[in-house]
Amino acid sequence: MRRLILIFAALPLFHCRQAPAPPTGLVTDNAMVVSARKEASEIGVAIMQNGGNAFDAMVGTELALAVAYPFAGNLGGGGFMVYRMNNGDVGALDYREKAPLAAHKDMYLDSLGNVIPGMSTIGATSVGVPGTIAGIFEVHEKFGALPIEDIIARVIELVDQGVEVTEKQSRRLDAYWDQIVEVNGDQTLFYNKCMPGDTLRYPALANTLQRIAKNGRDEFYKGETAKILSRFIQEKGGFVTEEDLARYEAKWRQPIIFRYKDLKIISMSPPSSGGVTINQIFKMIEPYDIGQYHHNSAEAVQLFTEAARRAYADRNYYLGDPDFVDIPLDVLLSREYVKGRMESFSFNEATTSSDIERGTVEILESSETTHYSIVDAEGNAVSVTTTLNGAYGSKLYCDELGFFLNNEMDDFSAKTGVPNMFGLTGAEANSIAAEKRMLSSMTPTIVEKDDRLWLVVGTPGGSTIITAVAQTILNVYEFDMSMQEAVNAARFHHQWLPDNIRFEPEGFSEELKQQLKSKGYRINEGRNGFIGMVDAIRVLEDGRLEGGADKRGDDTAVGF
Ligand code: GLY
Repeated sequence: MRRLILIFAALPLFHCRQAPAPPTGLVTDNAMVVSARKEASEIGVAIMQNGGNAFDAMVGTELALAVAYPFAGNLGGGGFMVYRMNNGDVGALDYREKAPLAAHKDMYLDSLGNVIPGMSTIGATSVGVPGTIAGIFEVHEKFGALPIEDIIARVIELVDQGVEVTEKQSRRLDAYWDQIVEVNGDQTLFYNKCMPGDTLRYPALANTLQRIAKNGRDEFYKGETAKILSRFIQEKGGFVTEEDLARYEAKWRQPIIFRYKDLKIISMSPPSSGGVTINQIFKMIEPYDIGQYHHNSAEAVQLFTEAARRAYADRNYYLGDPDFVDIPLDVLLSREYVKGRMESFSFNEATTSSDIERGTVEILESSETTHYSIVDAEGNAVSVTTTLNGAYGSKLYCDELGFFLNNEMDDFSAKTGVPNMFGLTGAEANSIAAEKRMLSSMTPTIVEKDDRLWLVVGTPGGSTIITAVAQTILNVYEFDMSMQEAVNAARFHHQWLPDNIRFEPEGFSEELKQQLKSKGYRINEGRNGFIGMVDAIRVLEDGRLEGGADKRGDDTAVGF
């Protein structure tokens, strides 16, 4: 009898995963692209149907997003790519923006040492040196199969034919129109007020792309485009010079690789915080077998929240550009250290963030970024997150070149411990320095199961990117969801400070919130929006692909 009781007591620890959930998203036999816009996914797929591989498709999709989704898709921003070849080789590319040579630690402070409102968030002063064109050429040079001119030609066709405005796009354009006019004047060529169903065209962008197709990467960094761009930014009061553009380099990085149960997770390394933080979260929850609880139950929310709280506290203090700061990765990612961090966790009551070390640092980021996932017919996988930072970046639109410039300088900590306009504060590791890359949360991720490609996943969402990616992986692995269900499922977020759980508007009952409150959790009761727009691909057991295109946006899976 005693033995029986012991066996039953131990049962919850051995959650049995069911057979993989049947697919509910688009299923294709060979290849797939999932991105924020149908047009961009279609271009990526057309490239693969015409003999291109996942890397060629990456080049086309990235540029097509600048046309179809200027909200975040870009030539004037930057991003990160994680890849996995069909032979299991993995790697990562950092084409993050960097601070111009003129940048320095106090550049956004007035004579009294106060942060100047808006200077790092809107207009030319907020612009970092763009990395996107360097990124796509770097990828193409290493892995591309098709001539890059042919890939760019497809994107130019899209610019010429124009992009139909969707309902959601029209709402976004309206929401930011006043700021775009404030920065650029009402004669801006970006767009004239438009309705869903109207077609947007950007002839200047077609000319820029023509020159890049003809002259290559250096057109953007050393050619006519570089001259126009640096002159434009400086005329508007910004800091990026021709020399800054000429010195820009994308950098290959070692991705962060770790195991969670029988999964191998491959994610982005610093200067993104994504891989390190997701690694800590998974290691913190692993001993508790989250799958034994119901999806989004009080216990599952508690466990995940307490792990995120501790991981974000470390993120905000220790992480920055690895070329400028020493990050103690060996300690931060060791199982012993991570286990110690959870010693104060109990299901009985919330830990408070002030009890967690490094309790004076906060980093929040804006949420406008975009992610796409690609798998080609050979089984090569590419996971890319790319951004202008804010919605339409700095809002500065170059009429002559046809694209927006980022406001990525705001991802630095303008002054240690002092929140900027978005509530951002940060630590010394992420302070501003000439040519330094600002800390990111972007988490393009690839997951292997049984040594085979299994998931390609990522999302926009600023600091919520990391928790959204982690929850999507857990939804499939621990909560037996299909890819599409996992992407659509309701999400929540905690990032240490502010010390509250942010729930999406739908999917979390009052009863659950009361239960958590009774244990001391603070709930963000304000009007909460969506968390992330995850675009992901799952490789099914029979080798077919299932897309997960987030229902929260216009996101679309396309494949063959
Ligand atoms: N700009 C958002 C991020 O890099 O995380």
